[in-house]
Amino acid sequence: MTSRRLVLTRSAALFGAASTALLLPEIARAQSGKVRVGLMLPYTGTFAQLGVAIENGFRLAIAEQGGKLGGRDIEYFKVDDESEPSKGIENANKLVQRDKVDVLVGTVHSGVQMGIHKVARDSGVLSLIPNAGVHAATRSQCAPNVFRTSFTNSQPTRALGQAMIAKGHKKAVWITWKYAAGDEAFEGFKESYTAAGGTIIKELGLPFPNVEFQALLTEIASLKPDAVACFFAGGGAAKFMKDYAAAGLQGKIPLYGSGFLTEGVLDAAGPAADGVMTTLHYSDSLNTPRNQAFRLAYAKMFRLQPDVYAVQGYDTGLLLAQGANAVKGDLANKAALYKALESATIDSPRGKWSMSKSHNPVQDIYLRVVENKENKVLGVAAKALADSGAGCKMA
Ligand code: PHB
Repeated sequence: MTSRRLVLTRSAALFGAASTALLLPEIARAQSGKVRVGLMLPYTGTFAQLGVAIENGFRLAIAEQGGKLGGRDIEYFKVDDESEPSKGIENANKLVQRDKVDVLVGTVHSGVQMGIHKVARDSGVLSLIPNAGVHAATRSQCAPNVFRTSFTNSQPTRALGQAMIAKGHKKAVWITWKYAAGDEAFEGFKESYTAAGGTIIKELGLPFPNVEFQALLTEIASLKPDAVACFFAGGGAAKFMKDYAAAGLQGKIPLYGSGFLTEGVLDAAGPAADGVMTTLHYSDSLNTPRNQAFRLAYAKMFRLQPDVYAVQGYDTGLLLAQGANAVKGDLANKAALYKALESATIDSPRGKWSMSKSHNPVQDIYLRVVENKENKVLGVAAKALADSGAGCKMA
């Protein structure tokens, strides 16, 4: 009762007693005062750096808006999700039930995302996905209040197969962490590689976030494929490339992957990353004024080089700002808010992108190669690539 009275008293001061009587406390909170932004990201574990980059990017976009959303100040609430799927629902509820956030921004790991997704669907709270590519979120379980600013897990690898065949690699081994992100990345790789005439001679895997690669690398050496393709990310990706080089495979069996393999880890991996070729919706070296301005602003604000995760966090801030501005800060006006988010075009450092019907970016996928600790762009591997959105029916 105390908090209810407090809200009513506060809103009485803001709105005047006459109108207050008509307002439920929930609505009073939602339309006045600060926008409550919940960040649910990994701040520990193999994806810790990814979480930090996403938050940094988001904060940069907000700073460029004068620190406001639709004219309102912002209050942040943060939870470290540890990339731990078993705590996903509980952690999302801390933000939604306890902190009563207006918008939930998260997360990186596909398994944890499914916990957020359940809470988002049950509560109706606006959910912005700044990384996790799990298919269900924008396919069979798509929802009007859920928008993704990153990719689906099969989107980058859908552009990989053709690029490998073009290099003459007809027999490949696939290796990944065995969970939704790796399995769905494989789906995109398999489809594009076999359609282009390639044969996958072996699928290898290990549980997330295990980094004991030795036995699997020995197996790859004895299989002698033309190339290896993989999905790894974060700290585990750096270790994989180092172990690959240490096993004597670098330069012998070309290494490919979805571009997460080489994002945010080029210092950690060092020369072991040289020559690794990947496909992704961003490249450090995109030679556009938009990308250069972003990279400069990010480096100034954080004394760090941005990566794809920073771009995705930034774009999440841009998207939310577009929506909030369209409804003049009234995030409770959901019909108008969702319409604005659905029709947004994001002028991103990755290039302009739009929302698909199932709320996932339609975007170019670039072919890149690592040279001197930079992801150099070689060309566009797939133009305006949309996920199928299979099974999505917006309620
Ligand atoms: C995911 O779990 O969906 C995921 C994690 C890290 C990435 C990409 C996808 O870099």
